[in-house]
Amino acid sequence: MKNTPIKKELVDRIIQEFDIRDFGKATIREVKAIAAKAENESGVEFIKMEMGVPGLPPSAIGVKAEIDALQSGIASLYPDINGLPLLKEEASQFIKAFINVDLKPEGCVPVTGSMQGTFASFLTCSQCNEERDTILFIDPGFPVQKQQLVVMGQKHETFDVYNYRGSKLKEKLENYLKKGNISAIIYSNPNNPSWICLKEEELRTIGELATQYDVIVLEDLAYFAMDFRRDLSKPFAPPYQPTVAHYTDNYVLLISGSKAFSYAGQRIGVSCISNKLYHRSYPGLTKRYGGGTFGSVFIQRILYALSSGTSHSAQYALAAMLKAANEGKYNFLNEVKVYGERAHKLKEIFLHHGFHLVYDNDLGEPVADGFYFTIGYPGMSSGDLAKELMYYGVSAISLITTGSDQEGLRACTSFIQEHQYKQLDERMALFAMNHPVK
Ligand SMILES: Cc1ncc(COP(=O)(O)O)c(C=O)c1O
Repeated sequence: MKNTPIKKELVDRIIQEFDIRDFGKATIREVKAIAAKAENESGVEFIKMEMGVPGLPPSAIGVKAEIDALQSGIASLYPDINGLPLLKEEASQFIKAFINVDLKPEGCVPVTGSMQGTFASFLTCSQCNEERDTILFIDPGFPVQKQQLVVMGQKHETFDVYNYRGSKLKEKLENYLKKGNISAIIYSNPNNPSWICLKEEELRTIGELATQYDVIVLEDLAYFAMDFRRDLSKPFAPPYQPTVAHYTDNYVLLISGSKAFSYAGQRIGVSCISNKLYHRSYPGLTKRYGGGTFGSVFIQRILYALSSGTSHSAQYALAAMLKAANEGKYNFLNEVKVYGERAHKLKEIFLHHGFHLVYDNDLGEPVADGFYFTIGYPGMSSGDLAKELMYYGVSAISLITTGSDQEGLRACTSFIQEHQYKQLDERMALFAMNHPVK
C-alpha cells in the first residue's frame, strides 16, 4: 500500500503499544487514544468519528437557568431525592407535548444522565422477580450498558435486529421471552450506533409481548426526536417521537439532556416510569426491601444508594430547557439538526468511494441522516477496515463492540469540521485506489 497519509508502521506500532491484538475489539476510548497519539506523532490531522460526544455549544437556556440557580444558593442544599418538583412537572409536560403520552410528574425522576438511568433500571428490574435474572438487548447498542451489567453481576442476552425487522421481530423476541428468565428489554430509538428507527409496528410488537410475558421495556431515547426525516419539533402536534408507551404499561422512558440539548457535561436526564409500573409491587422487591413499589424502590432505595439524587443546578437547567420547549419558545431540534446535515455530506463521500451503508433502511425507507451512520467496504472485516482507515487518518469504531453481527464501522458526525469534507474526500479517493474492489 502506498502513500497513506499516516505511515502504516507508525499506526501499527502505537496499536502494539496499547497491546491490542484485535483492533475490531478496541473500545471507543482506546481508538480515541490511538488516534490522538498517531496525530501527535505524525502531525497529520485525524478525522475523528469514534466518539459519540456532542460537538455543539450547550443550550444557552440551560446554562442561564443553572447559573441563576447557583447564584440563588441552591448548591448548599441536597436536592429532593424524588427530583425537583419543577423538573418533574416539565418532564411530564414534555412527554405529553412531544410523545403524546400521559405520564404523571411523580414518575419522572431526574438522574445523572441516562447512564445512571439505565444502571438504576437494570438493578430495579433485576430485583423484581428472582427467576428473571437476564436483560435482553435488541442490538446493536451502546456498549457501556453491557458493561453496567458486568459491573453489577447480571446476565444479558442479545441479538442483532438487522435480520429481524418488521414482522420477523415477533418470533425472534418470543423465543427469548418464553424462557421466563428475561426481566427487561432494552433498545435505543433512534439507535446508537446504526441510526435505524423502529417503526410503529415493531414498537407495537415489543409492547404487546412485554405485556404478555410481563417484562419491562427500557426505551432509551438518548437521541430524542432526532429522526430528522420528520419534523418532530412542534409541541402538542403530530408527528410525535414514536414510543412503546402506546402499546404497554410496562415501561421506563430514558430521556437524556446530553444529545438533544447538548448538555452532556452536566450529567442530567430523566427516567420516566409509567404510571402503572410506578405503583406496582413485586415479590423480589418486597422480600429485599420489606415493601415498596417499582417507583419507590427505584428512587428511595436505588438512586438514594447510588448518588442521593442528581446535581441540584443541572435539574434547574433541564427544567428550563424542557419548559421552553413545551411552550414552543425553544426549538431544541434546530440546534442539533446540523448533525444530520453533516451525516448527509459524509455518507455521500464514503458512498462515492465504494463504501456502503451497513444499516441502510427502516422497512424499506432509507435511514435518517443523524448523529451516527454505519459503513462497510467490500471484502473487509470490521477490524481490518477500522485499522486500515487509521492509516488514512480516519478513526471510527468497529460494529463488533456494539453487538452487531455485521461487518463495518460506526461513524459519528459530532466532531466533523467544515474543512474536513475535502480532506475526507481526498483520503477516501486514495483508499479506494489502494483497495480496488474485485
Ligand atoms: C444510546 C445511548 N444511551 C445513553 C447514553 C448516555 O446518555 P447520558 O449522557 O445521558 O448518560 C448514550 C450516550 O452516548 C447513548 O448513545
